[in-house]
Amino acid sequence: MPVSLSSLYSLGVVLTLAAGVVHLFRSYLRLRQFPGPSIASCTKLWMMRSTLRGRMHLDIADACRKYGHLVRIGPNDLVTDDPKIIRRMSAVRSPYTRSDWYNATAFSHKLNHVFCERDEQRHIDLRNKLIPGYSGKENLHLERSIDEQLISLFKLIRNEYTSTIREFSPVDFARLCQFLTLDIISAVAFGEPMGFLEHNEDLHGYIANQTAMLPIFEWFSTLPILEKVMRLPGISKLAMPTPQDTNGAGLLMGVARKIVATRYGPDKKVRRDMLGSFISHGLTQEEAEQETVLQIFAGSDTTATTIRTAVLFLITNPPVLNKLQIELDAAHSLRHLTTPILTYDEAQKLPYLQACVKECLRIWPPVVGLMQKVVPPGGDTLDGKFVPEGTQIGYSAWGVHRNPRVYRVDAEIFRPERWLEAEEEGGERLLAMNRTQELVFGSGRYACLGKQVALIEVSKAIAEIFLRYDFVLVDPSRPWQSVQRNGLFLQSELMVRISERQINADRLQPL
Ligand code: HEM
Ligand SMILES: *[C@@H]1O[C@H](CO)[C@@H](O)[C@H](O)[C@H]1NC(C)=O
Ligand SMILES: *[C@@H]1O[C@H](CO)[C@@H](O)[C@H](O)[C@H]1NC(C)=O
Ligand SMILES: *[C@@H]1O[C@H](CO)[C@@H](O)[C@H](O)[C@H]1NC(C)=O
Repeated sequence: MPVSLSSLYSLGVVLTLAAGVVHLFRSYLRLRQFPGPSIASCTKLWMMRSTLRGRMHLDIADACRKYGHLVRIGPNDLVTDDPKIIRRMSAVRSPYTRSDWYNATAFSHKLNHVFCERDEQRHIDLRNKLIPGYSGKENLHLERSIDEQLISLFKLIRNEYTSTIREFSPVDFARLCQFLTLDIISAVAFGEPMGFLEHNEDLHGYIANQTAMLPIFEWFSTLPILEKVMRLPGISKLAMPTPQDTNGAGLLMGVARKIVATRYGPDKKVRRDMLGSFISHGLTQEEAEQETVLQIFAGSDTTATTIRTAVLFLITNPPVLNKLQIELDAAHSLRHLTTPILTYDEAQKLPYLQACVKECLRIWPPVVGLMQKVVPPGGDTLDGKFVPEGTQIGYSAWGVHRNPRVYRVDAEIFRPERWLEAEEEGGERLLAMNRTQELVFGSGRYACLGKQVALIEVSKAIAEIFLRYDFVLVDPSRPWQSVQRNGLFLQSELMVRISERQINADRLQPL
């Protein structure tokens, strides 16, 4: 009997559906020992919904609060808020590797920078060549570059945004912070600032471009298959920034390429700055281009978020602000004013300032991406449960850093005193707090290379800003716009009135 086309077709549909069901079921079974939202056990829909809402960091923290310290959020995806597991995965000799979450951060499909390099040996080699430059020891001008950009910010505020009884010049401080950190990191990376503060504008639409692109990158991280499509030869050319672009990331690559080129070849310039250190440790010209662009991406939104957090959380917390300003004023009146800006050495000796910096990083960690790591061959046992190889485990920043077991009942609020109290108590508790808070910068062999640069930058910025100015939020009922995208924060509309502080005006060096 001849089989009709339509019954063949029906058979095909039935078989496909059956295969689909078997696949879903097997995918469900793989990690069934881990609790989590039920829809997450066989589909990525839960993760997609969080991505769509820009709430991944909050949703995964809620999930950990509800279901436990190791929670299933996708067919092959777990997430944890347990500092021990996070440290174990990134430990120097850990067999875990980075997942394809990191692929979305590549700027080129031909050459990986250190953050997206997933070949462990190449990652270690690259890291070793970069560490000396990032440590600051081989960059004699690091602090001076930071000071110069801070002075540039203060000049801009003096000329455009200082309010008095007669003048009201409100400003979006979130935007000024971004100008500041972009100029600092480009001065550190290229030897000269890109000039955002000097021109007081979003040069070449860089910030607008970043704002438009980050949500797309987040989709690539949530669904790496999309990113894979981007790597197809024809599409790759269209989708990736190129150094010939006249805006956005591409423009930045063009600038990086030009500047890096002056450091190689027969007429090369030799400088003792960060790039100079990379080169003297054997980075090729192409590698140096990638690392320079990465530095700008990794080192601008992050530090801007911390400085904005400081401004918002301090100006809405008068007792804390008052204590900080008393400490800053005292330090300032003792200074020999050889440099207009507090040195990092001096900043480190101010306990309340340092407690504020730590608390800002804790209450609003600037990097909250899942940054999943992959369970090694043979699997692993975590929390007394077996986790099969290939499972991806992500990081819940909000869960780790607002954990009441570490920070006690008021973990949700901004209270720098907790650090001074813990120091008085000493011992185990302080150690646990320190070790947990450090995870803001990642740990072990994946730890942030820019941590030292970031701490110098934010300590100086926070100290000098509050030494010089008083702030008033223009509309306390709507303090800022803050959206999380691909683990970074896009923040704007931190509208403030800035006035010069009287007590210090006469002792500040002229800019
Ligand atoms: C407050 C500011 C910052 C925070 C919170 C932060 C946090 C982080 C985190 C969480 C990671 C990844 C850890 C992982 O993959 O598990 C990272 C990596 C990295 N960061 Fe930062 N960062 C900050 C500022 C900076 C700055 C200013 C620079 C550059 C000067 C920088 C350069 C890097 C680089 C190059 C990596 C990749 C390291 C590697 O893959 O081996 N970061 N950072
Ligand atoms: C991620 O990048 C690596 C190379 O670094 C590649 O081998 C892998 O196929 C990529 N994964 C996806 C899902 O695109
Ligand atoms: C951002 O820059 C990239 C690469 O330089 C470009 O392809 C893209 O069209 C730009 N997007 C926007 C919204 O400006
Ligand atoms: C905790 O960190 C501070 C610096 O932030 C350091 O001075 C102190 O020694 C650390 N204490 C412990 C016990 O880790």
